[in-house]
Amino acid sequence: MLQTEFISTGMYVPERVVTNHELEGYMDTSDEWIRQRSGIEERHWAAEDEGGSDMAKVATERALEAAGMEADEIDCIVLATISPDHFFPGTGVFLQRKLGVKNIPCLDIRNQCTGFLYGLEVADAFIKVGKYRRVLLVGTEVHSSGITLSTEGRDTAVLFGDGAGVAILGPTEDQDRGVLAVRTHADGRHAEKLWAPAPACIKKPFVTTEMIDEGLTRPHMDGRDVFKHAITKMPAALYEVLELAGCSLEDLAMVIPHQANLRISQAVAKGLGLADDKMYSNIQRYGNTTAASIPLALHECVSEGRIQRGDLVGFTAFGSGFTWGGAVVRW
Ligand code: ACO
Repeated sequence: MLQTEFISTGMYVPERVVTNHELEGYMDTSDEWIRQRSGIEERHWAAEDEGGSDMAKVATERALEAAGMEADEIDCIVLATISPDHFFPGTGVFLQRKLGVKNIPCLDIRNQCTGFLYGLEVADAFIKVGKYRRVLLVGTEVHSSGITLSTEGRDTAVLFGDGAGVAILGPTEDQDRGVLAVRTHADGRHAEKLWAPAPACIKKPFVTTEMIDEGLTRPHMDGRDVFKHAITKMPAALYEVLELAGCSLEDLAMVIPHQANLRISQAVAKGLGLADDKMYSNIQRYGNTTAASIPLALHECVSEGRIQRGDLVGFTAFGSGFTWGGAVVRW
């Protein structure tokens, strides 16, 4: 049986840094409110006409260079995003075209903050059965174009940021290396607790100026309920994969959670009894980048030497859907 190992990682964030103080100029908010509630200090915003596929292209080029690979060695793209370049086709094909790679499958995953782990589960299955040998797994988001820069949209506008993170995955015969366990879940009963009601093909037409004026195209969130579910589902997902992998919490060198909110990560760490330096946080600098948050954090941990070859790394995520999941990887 083949295992799936991480060959390399890469990341990209847009040049423009937007501080909490800058947001104070667009809406009734404050640096203090944002820091206290979320831990966020700044985030990056994409330039005009810079899409998720553009950011993912740069992140991929960096990962290819780190792996000593050429783009045409990739034989499948799995791309997670909730902020696609266009309504259709998926962002994966735009990334494929920009990378100059022809005739490989491009699968778009729409599982919000859990998207990277859903993508990992799919990529792991592809590789385990020997279907593909080099899978490019991507999380990329441009949230700055979907938020409302006014007091009306402040509850979510201050939380989200733009960025892309990627991993190149491939097979190994070493049974104690790579993805030891990955599991994802969903509970659609909570779908409307964190969602963008429009555009909506359930309506005719799927978008109107009224929908836009009513704010239906921006994210709507029941923040307290998201918090409550996240702090129970994220530890449960981690315990589940640890048990599947035959490992314990103490074996983990690092936990990389989806960067939803610093308060959520701190509550999860406290619940698990994890020391602060074992729970990675970079939300202070990037905000919540949904599907991109785990690969961005992973790349930072690897490039800064916080994760070494042989280390056991835990992942956990929770997001809109509700969806959640976990993974345990021997680096
Ligand atoms: N700046 C200033 N004031 C604000 C802002 C803002 N950006 N947003 C909301 N407020 C106001 C509200 O209008 C309200 O005012 P009022 O008391 O006059 O009515 C007040 O602040 C308190 O609002 P609440 O929604 O009750 O604030 P709460 O303390 O619950 O904090 C938050 C909101 C941060 C969203 C919190 O519920 C939370 O941490 N939830 C977790 C959800 C989360 O972080 N989601 C991230 C994305 S989802 C994911 O990744 C899984």
